[in-house]
Amino acid sequence: MAAHLLLLVAVSAVAVLLLAPPAGAAFPRVQHPPKADGSLAVLAVGDWGRRGQFNQTLVAKQMGVVGQRMDIDFVLTTGDNIYDDGIANTSDPLFKECFTNIYTAQSLQKPWYIVLGNHDYTGNALAQQDPTILKVDSRYNAIAKSFIVNSGIVDFFLIDTTPFILHYWNNSKFDWRGVAPRDAYIANLLQDLKHALTESKAPWKIVVGHHPISSACGPGNNTELQELLLPVLKALFVTLNIPMHGDANAIQSHGADMYVNGHDHCLQRITSRDSPLQLLTSGGGSKAWAGKFKATPDKVEFLYDGQGFMSMRLNKKEAHFAFFDVAGNVLHCWDLTK
Ligand SMILES: *[C@@H]1O[C@H](CO)[C@@H](O)[C@H](O)[C@H]1NC(C)=O
Ligand SMILES: *[C@@H]1O[C@H](CO)[C@@H](O)[C@H](O)[C@H]1NC(C)=O
Ligand SMILES: *[C@@H]1O[C@H](CO)[C@@H](O)[C@H](O)[C@H]1NC(C)=O
Ligand SMILES: *[C@@H]1O[C@H](CO)[C@@H](O)[C@H](O)[C@H]1NC(C)=O
Repeated sequence: MAAHLLLLVAVSAVAVLLLAPPAGAAFPRVQHPPKADGSLAVLAVGDWGRRGQFNQTLVAKQMGVVGQRMDIDFVLTTGDNIYDDGIANTSDPLFKECFTNIYTAQSLQKPWYIVLGNHDYTGNALAQQDPTILKVDSRYNAIAKSFIVNSGIVDFFLIDTTPFILHYWNNSKFDWRGVAPRDAYIANLLQDLKHALTESKAPWKIVVGHHPISSACGPGNNTELQELLLPVLKALFVTLNIPMHGDANAIQSHGADMYVNGHDHCLQRITSRDSPLQLLTSGGGSKAWAGKFKATPDKVEFLYDGQGFMSMRLNKKEAHFAFFDVAGNVLHCWDLTK
């Protein structure tokens, strides 16, 4: 009798395990394998869609040149894709005027992985992730508001940050369909991100969102993200006392290496004051030169108030990053190794 009961308990436990969805399954995933030599080359640009104005066209041209030279695999956008209020529907001519007709270089005819910014949210936010937009331009991959691009050597976690910002919820222009209520949306997002970061086996983990956590150019750091998102991104360095190939300690990280955002119209590299996290802003896709500088408690390694974009080239062990201006000059570059 007791044995039967025990067996029943054991069987139920197994059933529960089998029924529980795999952690991190909630974010849709795109597989984008690296090149045959194991490397990956990517550009990141943000805050761009202004029908070519404010030097959007010059930035696009240099992205094409650098993209060609690096043989890029894809482009990441950090949001505020279409000014001032996103698109009205998937056939809104603004989409072609801001995207298709601007990023015309051969090297940029690759997938673009998209997050939305607050300006995309004050239009029809669902239109940018409607699959019919792919019929207008097949590059425009916004498969969900948050999703993961698995590239083997790097996992990119694209995160929807607009709902975090409290004062937007007082503005009736925001399209919260599929988002409201805020608290449940954010709790789910953070839980899914935590699971996905923990499960990721990729040597590099890069989180991409629209709003900065820490920033020295205007509008500056966001307290909502500092409180809610930052703890999830901060590397939880666990020292395991397991001898591995002669090493006394193996260090395992469940956090992110890097957070890349837009929103602030500048190019910027910040190192976190209390974690290995690097905080990068690539928000120079069009209008810039705001001249608004802010305080941040973290260390500002580089700040440029003008237009431009960033590049990354990674393999399993090494990563090289650079910021470019409208003339294609390298303004700042740095390397990281694993
Ligand atoms: C565009 O770039 C040129 C060249 O750097 C610069 O002189 C000009 O001020 C920029 N225009 C705007 C609107 O930022
Ligand atoms: C799509 O949006 C554009 C721009 O607002 C508008 O002119 C057009 O009528 C809309 N099309 C549909 C099918 O709603
Ligand atoms: C939103 O509006 C309410 C009512 O006007 C106000 O009390 C509150 O402070 C506002 N919240 C934010 C975050 O702006
Ligand atoms: C940004 O960080 C600085 C320095 O800690 C702080 O004084 C400021 O209030 C922060 N701004 C925001 C918007 O959180």
